[in-house]
Amino acid sequence: MAEKRNIFLVGPMGAGKSTIGRQLARQLHLEFYDSDTEIERRTGADIAWVFELEGEEGFRLREEKVIEELTENTGIVLATGGGSILSKESRNRLSARGVVVYLQTTIEKQLARTQRDKRRPLIAEADNPREVLENLAEARNALYEEIADIVVRTDEQSTKVVIDQIIEKV
Ligand code: S3P
Repeated sequence: MAEKRNIFLVGPMGAGKSTIGRQLARQLHLEFYDSDTEIERRTGADIAWVFELEGEEGFRLREEKVIEELTENTGIVLATGGGSILSKESRNRLSARGVVVYLQTTIEKQLARTQRDKRRPLIAEADNPREVLENLAEARNALYEEIADIVVRTDEQSTKVVIDQIIEKV
């Protein structure tokens, strides 16, 4: 990176955005943010509770607002929620304000990493989480691809290798 730009991680639940983002930021001496954590900090409620009280629609409005504000920064790594790219506004902001890295993985890895998680109400209560993840992938993968500057797989290699690949490409 020539100047202190931003790195935005997008991709589905369980792709490793938060884990990789935190370590990537540490390595590059950038500030780390996570849009879900930011929503929880601002509301004082966990994501499941926000979904329960305000529905997915209310959550998406909060997510859009958080992304709007965080993308104003310079020199950050931001792990975005898997559905944040549903908003055209957010897609435009992410594209305009930093390098967008799409972290790709398999449904198997997603399932293994997202069981019984209070931050994932869309699958936490589902009878068939695999089907939910498949449907989300069908609806969203083209959007991740559309805004990605860089695509990195996270299912076949260690976190360290993924981070090295991101650093090499940004
Ligand atoms: C969501 C992904 C979650 C969280 C919320 C909704 C989604 O974030 O924002 O449960 O719609 O895919 P992660 O991608 O960090 O799991």
